[in-house]
Amino acid sequence: TGIVVLISGSGSNLQAIIDAVQSRAIEADIRAVISNRPGVQGLQRAAQAGITHCVIDHKDFTERAAFDQALMQEIDSHQPALVVLAGFMRVLTPAFVRHYEGRLLNVHPSLLPDYRGLHTHARALEDGADWHGCSIHFVTAELDGGPVIIQARVNIKANDTEESLAARVQIQEHIVYPLVIQWFCQGRLSVHEGKIKIDDQV
Ligand code: GRF
Repeated sequence: TGIVVLISGSGSNLQAIIDAVQSRAIEADIRAVISNRPGVQGLQRAAQAGITHCVIDHKDFTERAAFDQALMQEIDSHQPALVVLAGFMRVLTPAFVRHYEGRLLNVHPSLLPDYRGLHTHARALEDGADWHGCSIHFVTAELDGGPVIIQARVNIKANDTEESLAARVQIQEHIVYPLVIQWFCQGRLSVHEGKIKIDDQV
């Protein structure tokens, strides 16, 4: 199975995926890593692992649709079965989302449907929530609104800061994202009319 990973930053989720591929916990190959921001640590991680990588800078495009077209063209040149958003911080157009329907995954740092969008850790703390966490979901045209596949919960502590909470949530992201990717690669994971189906171990 071929995978393309899209990143914008540090790439710690990318690293978890690379590690899982190397240990065969994910039975797939990462065909390419694409960043919309130059110079980010995630690109170094790809280079270190010997993975094809490139930058498609959104700032080089005046229109979102043109950026998405360029991104699609690059992704499709690698013919992936699965496209993985790993800290990719651009909102994608409906045309893009439709093109990869059922094979586009995202990790979001909250227990969806709570806290869609940005600054999820700060908002959970502000609300005095007891629980926080992360969600892996299929991407649909609705921002952070696609069907959720798995969530990992984290207990919020009295002395938590945005940073300490984010760090604990990220530990969970690095566990559950590779798991879900492997399910997809095994052909066990699918979505039909917004309903997630995870088949028994094959
Ligand atoms: C993750 O916490 C992810 O949930 C959020 O952005 C962060 C990306 O981190 N959307 P990294 O680039 O994988 O280290």
